[in-house]
Amino acid sequence: MKKIFLIFGASFLMLASIAQSPKISIIPQPVEVKEGTGTFVVNASTKIILSKEDASIKKVAASLNGEISAAAGFALNIAVGSRLEKNAIYLQLLQTPDAKLGDEGYRLISSANDVTISANKPAGLFYGVQTLLQLLPNEIESQKVVKNKKWTIPAVSIMDNPRFAWRGLMLDVSRHFFTKDEVKVFIDDMAKYKYNRMHFHLTDDQGWRIEIKSLPKLTEVGAWNVKKTGRFNFFTPPGDDEPRDYGGFYTQEDIKELIAYAKDRFVEIMPEVDIPGHSLAAVASYPELSCTPGKYKVNSGEQFMNWYDGGFSAMIDNTLCPANEKVYTFLDKVFGEISALFPFEYIHMGGDECAKNFWEINPQIKELMQREKLKDMHEVQSYFVGRVNKIINSKGKKMMGWDEILEGGLVEGAAVMSWRGMKGGIDAVKLGHEVVMTPNSHVYLDFMQTDGAIEPPVYASLRLKKVYELEPVPDGVNPKMIKGTQGNVWSEQLFNNRHLQYMVWPRAFAVSEVAWSPKTTRNWNDFIGRVEDHFERFNFANRKYAPSIYDPVIKAKKNEKNTLFVDFDSEIDGLDIYYSFDNSFPDNYYPKYAGKSIEVPVDAAPLKLISYRNGKPIGRMMTITIEELKKRTEKK
Ligand code: ACM
Repeated sequence: MKKIFLIFGASFLMLASIAQSPKISIIPQPVEVKEGTGTFVVNASTKIILSKEDASIKKVAASLNGEISAAAGFALNIAVGSRLEKNAIYLQLLQTPDAKLGDEGYRLISSANDVTISANKPAGLFYGVQTLLQLLPNEIESQKVVKNKKWTIPAVSIMDNPRFAWRGLMLDVSRHFFTKDEVKVFIDDMAKYKYNRMHFHLTDDQGWRIEIKSLPKLTEVGAWNVKKTGRFNFFTPPGDDEPRDYGGFYTQEDIKELIAYAKDRFVEIMPEVDIPGHSLAAVASYPELSCTPGKYKVNSGEQFMNWYDGGFSAMIDNTLCPANEKVYTFLDKVFGEISALFPFEYIHMGGDECAKNFWEINPQIKELMQREKLKDMHEVQSYFVGRVNKIINSKGKKMMGWDEILEGGLVEGAAVMSWRGMKGGIDAVKLGHEVVMTPNSHVYLDFMQTDGAIEPPVYASLRLKKVYELEPVPDGVNPKMIKGTQGNVWSEQLFNNRHLQYMVWPRAFAVSEVAWSPKTTRNWNDFIGRVEDHFERFNFANRKYAPSIYDPVIKAKKNEKNTLFVDFDSEIDGLDIYYSFDNSFPDNYYPKYAGKSIEVPVDAAPLKLISYRNGKPIGRMMTITIEELKKRTEKK
């Protein structure tokens, strides 16, 4: 009896203390979190006190106030002062730098009476504020006022700073155009998760998205293609009479506005002009830039490249001609205007996936090779990259490119973005180049997140767990040469902003934690708990995310007698998986997967399966044909 009382009493106390201190669930995980006791409550009389009159601290305070007033319906008074008062949030720029914090780190100390965020630089204060917002109830993300809510902050002491200086997301606005307002929302979300680099993929075969005043056709012609619906790369080729009115571009004023918007959120924007391949939009605008005379159209998603194991070729010459001086005059204008717009130190020149099959048969290229003593197509591209580097440097900027720029030799001072796995990055570091690790094995956020049976089909699959497993610094590589990492959001198959959000989140939670948190604090199960808490925040924010972690993983195999079996698994613990082979919709009264291979009945209709947690459906109903299962057993 006594024992029962003790257990009962202890659990009651535990519940009471849970009720008192709200759960701490921060992404990316801070370096050190020490929980205290009690809670601070933000109310209409809470003040924000700034340690000094300073425009950037004021902006940080205004951003905190913006979030609070949207959800709570009241704004906090902002004052300048050197002393912490009761019921105040103190934003303190340190007079004597704290070596542990660097340029972006912060300390956050909250108690029942007050909150102090201190940092060496305004960026640190901003990240402290992002953490503070994550300590508030999930409803703080609401875009409508939430009534009768107590805006509590648990007592806590946090010390935090980022592992990497480069924490990026790349947004491809060429394959599909996203409006200025949509890009702003993308930046808002990046900033909340402490990203600081937006790589803006502004040009490609499907669209040129930035106004270049001296080259107006780039946006009069190059920004537009034919709207198609369905699966990219499989569209019927557009007819000459179909309107080319799908797409768009950013004026230089729009770009300035986006740069300023990002800067207020401590995000730098790096522009990418993808050359010499991926240049059909430029060539359609100015056909004289091609080695191959002809009429060109901006691609609308119809096939124009052949991809095969170990290589590719272009059916239409989508490259700028390295043997044509007009190309370098063109690029001087493009990079001149771009350098004047973007304050960021790097310009990305692409350099990836350049088909050489038209160059191989071109007399101008042959002449160039003889003149410059270039022995193969890699060296032709390397000559081009060298010329581009000179142009970019002449504008006071440094050049970055995809890892193909290493082929044929790379000029000193250029930085490399390693995308075909980590190898390009490792090779680049050995040659003395700085690297951003963006391997397609781990951070390609355009890839499917769950089974291809229920996802819009794209090139490959990449589950959240794999993203979380990325280690950007390979063994034996000088860590100082790895600037950081970034998730790449290619948009071939992203037809609207909701689907963009679905593809980015939650995988961008994982990239942010890889980029920010110490390697030693990473813990998958703990991360998943926080991901689920942040789903709640996204629900309040009306942001879409993929619920793929709840979808079962399906594995098919055959035995020596050719009998088909399936097994199920899941990325997260605690799921029950129910299934049927008769095309009816399984629920928790159906057979449950018990961890042993299931023999597929010979006459089975499609396999249907669904996951439950604690007796409630949580995954999506999945259907997969028996033919597809058999096909999977044949794959290596
Ligand atoms: C790339 O994915 N082609 C850089």
